[in-house]
Amino acid sequence: MLHEHKLIHAFGALAELGQEITNRNNFQETIRTSLHLLSGALGIRRGAVARYSRFGHELNMLAVRGLGEDFPLSLLLTGEDERQFLSNGMAPIDIGEAQVLPFFQVHNVSFDQRRLELFVPLVVRDEIVGAIFLGEKATGEIYTSYDKEIICAMGQHIGVAIAQRNLMAEIERHSEENRRLFDEMRSTYHDTVKAFAAAIDCKDKYTEGHSVRVGKFSEIIAAELGWGTEEVEGAAVAGYLHDVGKLTVERKIINAPYRINAKESAELNKHPAVGYEILQPIHHPYTDVPLAAKYHHERLDGRGYPDGLYDREIPYIAKIVNLADSFDAMTTDRPYKARRPANDVVEDLTRNAGKQFSPEIVTAFLSGMLKELKGEDRTKRFRRLLGRDYMEAEGLATKVKYALNELAPTTPMTYIAAAGSVGSQTN
Ligand SMILES: [Fe+2]
Ligand SMILES: [Fe+2]
Repeated sequence: MLHEHKLIHAFGALAELGQEITNRNNFQETIRTSLHLLSGALGIRRGAVARYSRFGHELNMLAVRGLGEDFPLSLLLTGEDERQFLSNGMAPIDIGEAQVLPFFQVHNVSFDQRRLELFVPLVVRDEIVGAIFLGEKATGEIYTSYDKEIICAMGQHIGVAIAQRNLMAEIERHSEENRRLFDEMRSTYHDTVKAFAAAIDCKDKYTEGHSVRVGKFSEIIAAELGWGTEEVEGAAVAGYLHDVGKLTVERKIINAPYRINAKESAELNKHPAVGYEILQPIHHPYTDVPLAAKYHHERLDGRGYPDGLYDREIPYIAKIVNLADSFDAMTTDRPYKARRPANDVVEDLTRNAGKQFSPEIVTAFLSGMLKELKGEDRTKRFRRLLGRDYMEAEGLATKVKYALNELAPTTPMTYIAAAGSVGSQTN
């Protein structure tokens, strides 16, 4: 009867243990509970569960019960111990009878003092993953073979939990490694893109640094639109590579110190399509870089090239690059045309919003500029690209503010706020 009762109790503990082990959230807690359940099932007061480190060849305690503060938290195994434990498997070893092994010789006194009676190597798939130490039974009886079977079964559960944990740690290490590799690849990709941009710009001696600047302006716009980090990077790449098709256009056309004729212009206008052909076979991680190259000369009003697309037909990224590209063209000296003053350019962007440019893209770009002019953004993105003097043009901040108002006169929120005050924008 007593025997049966114990059996039911032990199996109950086993079931609980299985459940505990599937809950992987708190490993340490799981192991502590396991030890608790095992001791409870068999009436054992003292014990410990350790995890084996293959690299350090040591058993590190995960849970200790009733063994006192000075019980060593880490115990070394020799090669001989390892071999013996592996061939022994999960069967509980009577510590008193195992004195031939170095492990028990070394710790003889310590184990004896605490009256540890059983040692269970946890062997999972031919590997030692840990061990269980058990003291004498509260009743003072010796362990029966039946007790040992229960210990072995529970030990198996605990062993699997530790092995699972080790596997998880391994996977995490690998994903760490993958992340590192990915980051490396990503920076290699960016270096390649920049090298390409520099190569494109080399061909065009009058617009030195054009692609790089268009990349940076596109980046500013994407960031101002509230895009995520990767999308912003993607926008920068699209800008860097937008004119890649120019690599196949004759140098003398690109560098013509005069306004080119119709034939030359037709030749130059092939560069978006050529760029698309070059970029299309490459896998770009974040955005549609080839489409940005293909359509960066399209206009909202359908008067652009190569396909004369209208507003909604133009990919969004191409609209961003278009603004960045046009802005750079207006703000740099060309052989037949000097750069235009900042106020003029802002006015141009506003006037052409809805015709060439997407109004909300112009808004995003100008808000970025205004933040810098008002000192809210201290990264000096615009000053670095356009020069300090250029950005300090008289009345520029007011001009930009005015332009922003014109583009997006008010929001319902500011309208309500303005209703109570005098002289606000009410038109
Ligand atoms: Fe272009
Ligand atoms: Fe361009």
